[in-house]
Amino acid sequence: MMLRVTLLLLVVTAALARMNVLFLVSDDMRPELSIFKGKDFPSPVHPPMHSPNLDALARRSLLLKRAHVQQAVCSPSRSSLLTGRRPDTTHVYDLQVYWRVVGGNFTTIPQYFKENGYRTIGSGKIFHPGHASNYNDPISWTDPYFESGKEANMFVYDYKAPVSWMNVPMDLLKNNSLQDTQNADFAIKMIREAAPQARSGERPFFIAQGFHKPHLAFVAPQMFFDMYPESSISLPANPYAPDKMPEIAWSNYITTELGKFVDIAKLNASGDINSTLPNDVILKLRRAYYSALSYTDYELGRVVKELENQGLANNTIISFWGDHGWQLGEHGEWCKHTDFEIATHAPMMVHVPGLTDNGIVTEELTEFVDLFPTLVEAAGLPALDLCPENSTNVLLCTEGNSLIPLITNPASPNWKKAVFSQYPRNENNGDQMGYSMTTDHYRYTEWVQFNSQPLYRPDWTQVFGVELYDHYQDPEENKNLAYDSAYSAIVAQLSKQLHAGWRAARPKWVGQQKDGISTNASVRLPGD
Ligand SMILES: *[C@@H]1O[C@H](CO)[C@@H](O)[C@H](O)[C@H]1NC(C)=O
Ligand SMILES: *[C@@H]1O[C@H](CO)[C@@H](O)[C@H](O)[C@H]1NC(C)=O
Ligand SMILES: *[C@@H]1O[C@H](CO)[C@@H](O)[C@H](O)[C@H]1NC(C)=O
Ligand SMILES: *[C@@H]1O[C@H](CO)[C@@H](O)[C@H](O)[C@H]1NC(C)=O
Ligand SMILES: *[C@@H]1O[C@H](CO)[C@@H](O)[C@H](O)[C@H]1NC(C)=O
Ligand SMILES: *[C@@H]1O[C@H](CO)[C@@H](O)[C@H](O)[C@H]1NC(C)=O
Repeated sequence: MMLRVTLLLLVVTAALARMNVLFLVSDDMRPELSIFKGKDFPSPVHPPMHSPNLDALARRSLLLKRAHVQQAVCSPSRSSLLTGRRPDTTHVYDLQVYWRVVGGNFTTIPQYFKENGYRTIGSGKIFHPGHASNYNDPISWTDPYFESGKEANMFVYDYKAPVSWMNVPMDLLKNNSLQDTQNADFAIKMIREAAPQARSGERPFFIAQGFHKPHLAFVAPQMFFDMYPESSISLPANPYAPDKMPEIAWSNYITTELGKFVDIAKLNASGDINSTLPNDVILKLRRAYYSALSYTDYELGRVVKELENQGLANNTIISFWGDHGWQLGEHGEWCKHTDFEIATHAPMMVHVPGLTDNGIVTEELTEFVDLFPTLVEAAGLPALDLCPENSTNVLLCTEGNSLIPLITNPASPNWKKAVFSQYPRNENNGDQMGYSMTTDHYRYTEWVQFNSQPLYRPDWTQVFGVELYDHYQDPEENKNLAYDSAYSAIVAQLSKQLHAGWRAARPKWVGQQKDGISTNASVRLPGD
């Protein structure tokens, strides 16, 4: 009797204490934060970065130091993370199509919280806007979506003659706010509005705020440029394509993205392999990128602070991720659109009150599809099942793994052994796909023929290029070893592992839950 009463109390308390979620996103932010600095691979942090708010959040989070996106461009990456499924399941490889039309009517993270009684509010860039999400996926939200459009910046920025970067004088900001400032103001307002019901336990919230920076154009207030004196900025150490890189691995940064800015267009840069921009332009772009990153950090800090102001800090899960990495002249390359480490590696951290307060760093390999099951477990919602091979008609499932076990065991010998990304190319009159796998030691990529409808699967027999980089010897990926006969056995083994795919690389303990990996939290593993 006593026991039953205690259990009942526990259940009631748990229900009352249902945690809120603050879901923070940044656009094109590579993991160039002070907190990432370290001896481990990779730690591409220079110059000294000013990211005090993200660093502070990381110090009370599970910091996923080696998180990889499933495809290094906005809509495919976001559609994948938000549905917990990979591009070959969402069928989203570009910035146009909507997964509910081309993949299936898959439940998103905010939608699942909504279905579980949460108030879900979104602002800024969470989904890729426009057709790619049927205008921010109305199904996901209980409240009208808010977006301060790019018009917000028109007081200073001319979209008819767009420039790649701009430092905005501080006095112009007295009477005007930039887009991300306006979106942050909205998120703060919504936290205030949702706080009373969240505090009383009546209705928890899921508030999502997506920052547009540090995406091009790198527009940021002057005060952030002042944090990066020109003398502190250096050129990339490897302004050339990897030795023996197959041509298909390259993305022409002028035609994809950078060439639409008038200051870049007038340089007549080709965007070709082993060309890059003039040194003075590289330095200016790098400085502006860092400044835009620090501006994002500042706005994010204001939103996080509002949780404290409202007394909700100890009852709100916070996740942060940037949608993919970015090439700032490394390899002579710019933007994303590749399978290089620097494009697929992106920041991710998850704060779970009571579980991560002292900060946990893991260098295990993780994937963006892992966030959905993680937030579900952290909030105590019904766990997600592993998706079957064909999940077209399965509304709710996951192709990732909850990261919660890494909180108690951040160096687990049983965690996934490889993570997967992909990038399409449409050359040689057909569809090609670069399937890329990162292991602790290597990055291995095969560029192959891709069968789109109806299979959405690679044809491994038609190969257009192979890449192998040894991260122990060559963390910058400057030397493709795939065609070196000394590595043929390693290539054969990695090729087999790549073809076996993510299902074969799932953590050993899934479905077994052994070897002391279970956590304090009640863990029901997907697939159990
Ligand atoms: C997709 O799922 C949502 C939420 O359950 C539902 O409202 C909508 O009608 C579904 N759409 C289709 C095309 O089935
Ligand atoms: C800002 O607006 C106020 C009130 O409208 C005006 O007096 C002031 O001159 C403006 N300042 C700037 C820098 O435009
Ligand atoms: C690009 O430059 C690098 C470094 O000089 C060289 O190893 C590589 O072969 C070049 N690639 C092409 C396609 O010219
Ligand atoms: C770019 O090309 C245009 C047209 O050919 C020419 O007028 C201009 O001088 C070139 N600029 C540079 C930086 O080469
Ligand atoms: C959370 O903070 C509030 C306000 O500071 C406090 O009243 C409450 O007891 C705290 N709850 C937990 C679970 O620590
Ligand atoms: C997956 O299932 C859907 C719905 O039953 C079907 O239309 C589609 O052809 C299947 N895909 C494959 C590759 O079998």
